[in-house]
Amino acid sequence: MSFHAVDLIRTKRDGGALTDEQIRWFVSAYTAEEVAHEQASALLMAIVWRGMADHELAQWTAAMIDSGERLDLSSITVPTVDKHSTGGVGDKISLPLAPIVAACGAAVPMLSGRGLGHTGGTLDKLETIPGFRAELASAEMLSVLAREGCVICAAGPKLAPADKKLYALRDVTGTVESIPLIASSIMSKKIAEGASALVLDVKVGSGAFLPDVSQARALAETMVSLGEAHGVKTVALLTNMDTPLGRTAGNALEVTESLEILAGSGPDDVAELTYALAEVMLVLAGIEGDPRAAVRSGAALERFQAMVLAQGGDPDAPLPEAPERMVFEAGADGFVTRLDARAVGVCAWRLGAGRARKEHPVSPGAGVVCLKKPGDEVSESEPLLELRADDGERFAAALQALEGAVDIAAEPCEPARLLLERIGP
Ligand code: URA
Repeated sequence: MSFHAVDLIRTKRDGGALTDEQIRWFVSAYTAEEVAHEQASALLMAIVWRGMADHELAQWTAAMIDSGERLDLSSITVPTVDKHSTGGVGDKISLPLAPIVAACGAAVPMLSGRGLGHTGGTLDKLETIPGFRAELASAEMLSVLAREGCVICAAGPKLAPADKKLYALRDVTGTVESIPLIASSIMSKKIAEGASALVLDVKVGSGAFLPDVSQARALAETMVSLGEAHGVKTVALLTNMDTPLGRTAGNALEVTESLEILAGSGPDDVAELTYALAEVMLVLAGIEGDPRAAVRSGAALERFQAMVLAQGGDPDAPLPEAPERMVFEAGADGFVTRLDARAVGVCAWRLGAGRARKEHPVSPGAGVVCLKKPGDEVSESEPLLELRADDGERFAAALQALEGAVDIAAEPCEPARLLLERIGP
């Protein structure tokens, strides 16, 4: 059945609901490049303003899943479980988490993305390891997963292709920030990936796509319902993204910090979130494992190294370092009470850690090292952040991003809670 895009746009613009047939037609016609980008943009903007009814979102998500193939994980003999984050600053959790959960006995098929804007991407981080390949054919992905228990790679072109097209369009039309559009985008990929269980790390705070807690909660509830409706056991944790996670934001810098977690050290907040997510993943997978013991015994680090080797990387090779460094001083005596996640993310991005356009390369060594974080005492001339770049000309614009990003007070603040809420069965 064929429709006119303009009728769908008018219906949504005026607050009406699309029929199942209209939704199926639009998603498949846009994926086949039979709908003009300007019409798709107008429809997306109408959805941003008007939202979607539950039955529309269910149909929209199903149509996005059906726009491509589903991965067949039936050859994997142990329970499969994945984690997805809605995106944050310094969020390197996937790197230690996948091997930790694998070392406890589950299989973790993690299809990840690259960073865009102020948030980092797992694949950009892993690709700083010399030789590492993130683009794997399905057969190779399955064989790494079966052998090593975890794989972290890009979603192939056949997995939810509607999302690839729609996400690229949303990114340039100001239509990312919408609960139904984010939920369908994430869940179509995760459901097509085929894991039996999923834990969602839904970020709340200045560094998140939806900073407000009530919106983040609504997003989490929407994604949990979509997962459950498709037979994927789904739980969401709302977690704090007001301040960067850990002490680094930047690709190779975050790999180093992830290796520290796998070695049993590393920043407390990264360890806390990694273990919290691992525990939920193992419960959903029905596996009685101890993530901390997997780290203590060295089993998780071995898994990570085996996965890197299997994906062409050299786990022993030195990681790239950016040659140019600059210190950002505290500017006052006292206690750090705020270090804004979004500002640090934009700063790292301007230093070269992120890309302005999808086809641009990232600088592997660029980024920000947080020498002090909220709760730490500082003196006026003490270094608070270290900025790293390949090219010193980037420092001026990066420093601008830090204007107003730090508060220093005479008294220390209450430590902010990292784990805010759990949503799901
Ligand atoms: N991540 C996604 O995959 N999709 C969105 O819409 C937002 C974050």
